[in-house]
Order: sequence, then structure tokens, then C-alpha cells
Amino acid sequence: MSPSFRIRHARPDDLDALVALEESSFDHDRVSRAQWRRHIRAASAAVLVADTDGSVAGCALLFFRHGSKRARLYSIATSHDSRGRGVGAALLQAAEDEARKRGCETMRLEVRTDNTTAIAMYEKRGYLRRKREPGFYENGADAWRHEKPLV
Ligand SMILES: CC(C)(COP(=O)(O)OP(=O)(O)OC[C@H]1O[C@@H](n2cnc3c(N)ncnc32)[C@H](O)[C@@H]1OP(=O)(O)O)[C@@H](O)C(=O)NCCC(=O)NCCS
Repeated sequence: MSPSFRIRHARPDDLDALVALEESSFDHDRVSRAQWRRHIRAASAAVLVADTDGSVAGCALLFFRHGSKRARLYSIATSHDSRGRGVGAALLQAAEDEARKRGCETMRLEVRTDNTTAIAMYEKRGYLRRKREPGFYENGADAWRHEKPLV
């Protein structure tokens, strides 16, 4: 049976869970504890979490720029034992809803070219592959830039 979860904005008491999720999900380009703390408070960011009975099953980090109608999905991750159960898709949907709510018309993201799971998730949900970004990540890996119109 799928676990029930709800998507909400992150709070300062989610910091430990956000850091743990980041460490278990990414080998490089990790968001630090101090950065999570800042992003939770910042008007130019949104941190969404999937909450399952008080524990964090996933998160998404979005950035907004004043005067821009393009939002950036900087990061999205779900815990290993929650994967394949719709949590990632729900976070992506919530991220798009948040961007629309703030008047954005496009969502942009970068994804490592070998991350077939994430690429499948994005492309199935309307993200279009725009451009390859050579050496985009700290470890030198390339990214695909994807965009989706939100209107
Ligand atoms: C990418 C990630 C967020 C997906 O989260 P999830 O909770 O497993 O996602 P969901 O169960 O909602 O599935 C969403 C879509 O992902 C894709 N997907 C999920 N598991 C997959 C798998 N094992 N193989 C291929 N595609 C898969 C599918 O397109 C799926 O949509 P569908 O069920 O309609 O076919 C998760 O795998 C993750 O945290 N990975 C590590 C961090 C990461 O790479 N983040 C992306 C950085 S750009």
C-alpha cells in the first residue's frame, strides 16, 4: 500500500531531515545546512517537503528572481524507501503550482545527463530538453537543461 503524505513548506525543524536527505541522495553539489536554513526563510526560494507522519520523505528546492517569470527547480529528491511511490511526482507538481502562484510562466531545471530516472520523470511531465551544459556539476559531469511552460 502506498504511504500517505502531504506536501508542505519546510520549517526550521526540518533541517536535520533535509541535510540527511541531501547526503543520501547526492554525491556532489550538495546544499549545505546553512544554505537550507537560508532558503527556508528567503522570499526568493521555496523549500517543499513531502511529510509522511512527521518524517520527511522528499524535498524540492525552487528559486525565483525578482522581475523574472522563470522559476528554477534547483533540487528534488526522495528518500530511498519512498521511491517509486509517487512522492517525486507530487513534489514536482507542487513545485509547479508554487511557481504558478508566484506568477511564473516557465520552469527551468538542470539534470545530470546520466540520471535516467529523473530525466524520465521530467520528460513524461512535459519538460523539454533544451541544451547540454558541459561540466555543469562540481565533479565535471554534464547536465541537460530542461524547461516546461507553466501556462
Ligand atoms: C528522481 C526522484 C526524485 C524520483 O522520485 P520518486 O519518488 O521515485 O518518483 P515517483 O515515484 O513519483 O515517480 C515519478 C517518475 O519518475 C520516473 N521513475 C521513478 N522510478 C523510476 C525507475 N525506477 N526507473 C525509471 N523511471 C522511474 C517515472 O517517470 C515516474 O513516473 P511514472 O510513475 O508516471 O512512470 C528520485 O529517484 C530521487 O530522489 N533520486 C535521487 C536524487 C535525484 O537524482 N534527483 C533529481 C536531480 S535533477
